[in-house]
Amino acid sequence: ANFGDTREVTAPADFHVHLRDGELSKLVTPHVREGGFYLAYVMPNLVPPITTTEMANEYKKRLKEYSSQVEFLMTLYLSDALDPNDVKNWKAAGIVGVKSYPRGVTTNSDEGIESYDKYDELFKEMEKHGIVLNLHGEIPSDHSKNICVLNAEERFLPVLSNLSIKYPKLRIVLEHATTAAAVQAVIACGDNVACTITAHHLSLTVDDWAGQSFHFCKPVAKFPEDRRALREAIKSGNRKFFLGSDSAPHPTHSKSTATHMSGCAAGVYTSPVLLPLVAHLLDSFGAIDRLADFTSHFGRDFYQIPAGPGAPKVVLQKVHGVKVQAEYSDGEKTVVPFWAGKDLEWQIVD
Ligand code: NCD
Ligand code: DOR
Ligand code: ZN
Ligand code: ZN
Repeated sequence: ANFGDTREVTAPADFHVHLRDGELSKLVTPHVREGGFYLAYVMPNLVPPITTTEMANEYKKRLKEYSSQVEFLMTLYLSDALDPNDVKNWKAAGIVGVKSYPRGVTTNSDEGIESYDKYDELFKEMEKHGIVLNLHGEIPSDHSKNICVLNAEERFLPVLSNLSIKYPKLRIVLEHATTAAAVQAVIACGDNVACTITAHHLSLTVDDWAGQSFHFCKPVAKFPEDRRALREAIKSGNRKFFLGSDSAPHPTHSKSTATHMSGCAAGVYTSPVLLPLVAHLLDSFGAIDRLADFTSHFGRDFYQIPAGPGAPKVVLQKVHGVKVQAEYSDGEKTVVPFWAGKDLEWQIVD
């Protein structure tokens, strides 16, 4: 695109975001709208995790107080606390999906592959009642089987494929894909499977997070060829691939390894600059014309959540560089955004 060019997106939708709780939530939730978005698909990994419709609705009420213009779609955390008999009531209670984290599943010790068998009844009910399954697609590290962060996603992919075959009407999203293997696996699955891609995984590779704690997240960014496959998936216009930022704020002190024996919290924080950042990155690899598909249409189509008539539009313009601010703070807590101190070539215009 040329400088001065504009692009318009109707009601941008972020289909994977961490909005936290308490004071941090108050600081970061308004950044969804600031970053250009009108819809946030909210992850349930609070402490304790969101496992009931009551918890989800109380959480949603708090989020609405922090940001009244954003539509918040709520999820539950996959665990034994979820009762298959309740699933029929979820949709009416505002639950859209269930998020599975690697520790929520049991490992079959023979195969080293996780088994979701114990959730069979739950998944059948979800399939019947239109609840989406969101997969954090990594298996836990197991050094005896040579499994670590670099191959944890690829080793998970047979699980995705098996689930999509076993529950052909269950809508499944492989979250935050980071590998060429994942892109291929998603394409090979039926239309019940889609895939979110983050902004930061369109930018980072291993070189960028090894020794750079603010770029450390799970799943970790992989090889240059993996990054290329993510970019190509978007550029190709395949409707299965859409934005889920996985924006995951952590206070600065828990990101800086120098002061923490326990290591660095995983998460890259993109919400405050998300739409300009996505535009900047898509433009950098020749996919700016996919901006509205990637950040609104494809995700909304898969989730069956149309923007509707009269939905707000966000306009972006290509500019000569706007610096991303160094940090955001409420006086107590500080969070550092991705791209801090660097220039973006797209900005939201009013
Ligand atoms: C519209 C758009 O892109 O603004 N879509 C379209 O014309 N195909 C409205 C929309 O996104 O729902
Ligand atoms: O980097 C990550 N951060 N990956 C996750 O799966 C969780 C998230 C978080 O909650 O911080
Ligand atoms: Zn995840
Ligand atoms: Zn996440």
